[in-house]
Amino acid sequence: MSRTRTTFRCRDCGAAAPRWAGRCATCGEWNTVEEEATVPDGPPGGADGSPRRPEAAPVEIGVLAGLDEPVMPTGLAEFDRVLAGGLTPASVTLLAGEPGTGKSTLLLQVLAGLAAGGRRSLLVSAEESLAQVHRRADRLGALCPGLWVAADTDLGRIRAAASRLAVDVLVVDSVQTVSDPASGSPPGSVAQVRACAQRLVDDAKSGGPAVVLVGHVTKDGSIAGPRVLEHLVDTVLTFEGERHDTLRMLRAVKHRFGPVGELGLWEMTGAGLSGVTDAGALLLADRRPGTPGSVVFPALEGRRPLLVEIQALVAPAAPGTARRAASGYETGRLTQLLAVLERRAGLALGGQDVYVSAVGGIRLADPGADLAVALAVASAATGRVVDEDLVVLGEVGLGGELRRVPNAARRLADAGRLGFGRVLAPAGSAVADGLALLAAGTLEEALDGHLGRLSRPPRLRVVTGGHPSAG
Ligand code: TYD
Ligand code: MG
Repeated sequence: MSRTRTTFRCRDCGAAAPRWAGRCATCGEWNTVEEEATVPDGPPGGADGSPRRPEAAPVEIGVLAGLDEPVMPTGLAEFDRVLAGGLTPASVTLLAGEPGTGKSTLLLQVLAGLAAGGRRSLLVSAEESLAQVHRRADRLGALCPGLWVAADTDLGRIRAAASRLAVDVLVVDSVQTVSDPASGSPPGSVAQVRACAQRLVDDAKSGGPAVVLVGHVTKDGSIAGPRVLEHLVDTVLTFEGERHDTLRMLRAVKHRFGPVGELGLWEMTGAGLSGVTDAGALLLADRRPGTPGSVVFPALEGRRPLLVEIQALVAPAAPGTARRAASGYETGRLTQLLAVLERRAGLALGGQDVYVSAVGGIRLADPGADLAVALAVASAATGRVVDEDLVVLGEVGLGGELRRVPNAARRLADAGRLGFGRVLAPAGSAVADGLALLAAGTLEEALDGHLGRLSRPPRLRVVTGGHPSAG
């Protein structure tokens, strides 16, 4: 006779717990542990209690040559770039992003592209009515034969429809709004979302369509609730953009069929997402030459060089409240860099608010941006402008020494074409043809010697409201 047991699981990180707790023992979040469906005790199954897929008989590995189906190019160059060619047949992809970034728009364009290549697809809109989907598709020029739509939330009906239509691709928008009454878990719970995703994964792996699941993320960037989905699926894509900006970025944070790290770029227009081919020019479009605190850094996203404007602002702080804030650059790293600027290059910023931002919502996880950030801060603090034709590249060590950055020449590939002539970088950096290297060994040297107008900054003495706030 089979017994039943009650299980608990963290809504955030997905860790199983033997009993309810106010705080998840794995991720430390409060109030995220919830009761899962009561599952019969029986033969061991998949991680969520679903039956295991039947194991196929072993085969010798060489026999498998030629079994791989080619990827399906979507015809959206930026999407295909991120996925190393296109959607892989029978794969499952999670497309995560905050509400309103344009996930539904992107997927409609992807499906239209697939339809143009003769692929059949089913778009399940569990959040919007068919009229809304039709209106958007009309606007995007996506009223294609071979693209089916359904406004449904019932997983059983969705799977049946995908199977009946024999589609190549199934899009579920969003995975948080579909439910499987058979799963026994409360609608909207993590267990429910996981169970639905697991069913679709099983379908895909047993001859079903490639599946794309839309997942909403919360403000802190975690995929709301079903962060657990990340390890169920083959590919995790994140779609980002600043609400007030038209730039949209797609990244693969996990991809079983190719390298991660490539960046897809679009601009949201009145007629949908328009792929950005000349990214270099885009991120510099609003640059105002002659402004202190502006420095251009050659970033590398995957294999794609991107010239990014870094801006800094230094302003007197209210006594005892100096703020350091960075967007697109790690705040901890900024604090460290300010300490190095003070101790190794004599630029004291105590009593000053310091703000740093990478323009266009680009995130610089790259220590190669240190020198550009330091220079932007020094330029903002002194009011001296960094030369317009200069690109700045280098990692800054705690001793103020500069370190070379990998792939310098590739990063700089577009710089000459976009009007830059000189590169400030550590000695020995390989710069692209046509660019002059201004070599520096230390941060102090970089600030002192190689910028012409930005010689060693004077110690600041800024007076606000009668009291000196820096010295
Ligand atoms: P949407 O795809 O609905 O975002 P998500 O599915 O991620 O929630 O689109 C988000 C925004 O994009 C919406 O506010 C309107 C805007 N938009 C355009 O600017 N141009 C367009 O052609 C479309 C279809 C949408
Ligand atoms: Mg949507």
